[in-house]
Amino acid sequence: MLGPYRQAVDELVVKFKHIKQEYQNAGMYSPIESVSGRVKRISSILDKAHRKSVPIEKIEEKIEDIAGVRIICQFVEDISTVVDIIRKRSDLIIKREKDYISKSKPSGYRSYHIIVYYTVQTFGEPKTIEAEIQIRTLAMNFWSTIEHSLQYKYKENMPDGLRERLLRAADAVGALDNEMASVRDEIMDAQNFNRQKANIIADILNNIENLYHIANEREVTKMQKEFFEIYQKDDMALLNRFNKQLDVLSETYRAQSIQSSAGSFIDL
Ligand code: GTP
Ligand code: MG
Repeated sequence: MLGPYRQAVDELVVKFKHIKQEYQNAGMYSPIESVSGRVKRISSILDKAHRKSVPIEKIEEKIEDIAGVRIICQFVEDISTVVDIIRKRSDLIIKREKDYISKSKPSGYRSYHIIVYYTVQTFGEPKTIEAEIQIRTLAMNFWSTIEHSLQYKYKENMPDGLRERLLRAADAVGALDNEMASVRDEIMDAQNFNRQKANIIADILNNIENLYHIANEREVTKMQKEFFEIYQKDDMALLNRFNKQLDVLSETYRAQSIQSSAGSFIDL
């Protein structure tokens, strides 16, 4: 029974990781920080079915989190961006949304849950399963990971004192997320800048490497020295201008090589 759920989790994790990758390739800040997934263990599925009086034949219909995907964001604001991304996807049909962010659970738990229908192909046959996508910040994840292990340790008998301390910690997590939201723009600027710089440097080095194949070696060595000088100045405008110069140079060489090969064709 669990095969399609494993497949769904694997596929969904890859898909969300690629969304992060797309943002990064475009030199943009990604609302997704990390993605993980798991299939509920059979013993936990049976426990939950028993707890919720779900008969065996209704398990797939009534237990919505057999397949679980967790998306971690840096900032609270990113959560609604991710929710919008999910709402717009054609491969995910939303069954329902549970907003434990605007209003946390009595335990103090905060997170945004979306239950989706997702179709996998097994032996060429489509099978639609349900999956739970949890979206939360790094700080919310910190809290729920700790709280979950304490819940696990104490089962139903968590001491009142501990429960209260966890509630206070949840408030502190909320305050931390608010505080971080106020420096978000600054953090994003810094991250964007670093990513754009990394992208442009990769681009320049790629250009130089290509030039080695088509250009005069002395000229390329000269460009490479020039690059290291500019690199040390740590100035984005200079790096950009230098990269444009490299583009022009590559174009010139490419045009020349097309001309000369056209020439040799005529000679024949
Ligand atoms: P269960 O809580 O799993 O029985 O399912 P439910 O049908 O009541 O849905 P709910 O939205 O309450 O919880 C779904 C999932 O969210 C859980 O399996 C946990 O992963 C997580 N979750 C919900 N409440 C808490 C909580 O108080 N603490 C922690 N750490 N996680 C929670
Ligand atoms: Mg619950």
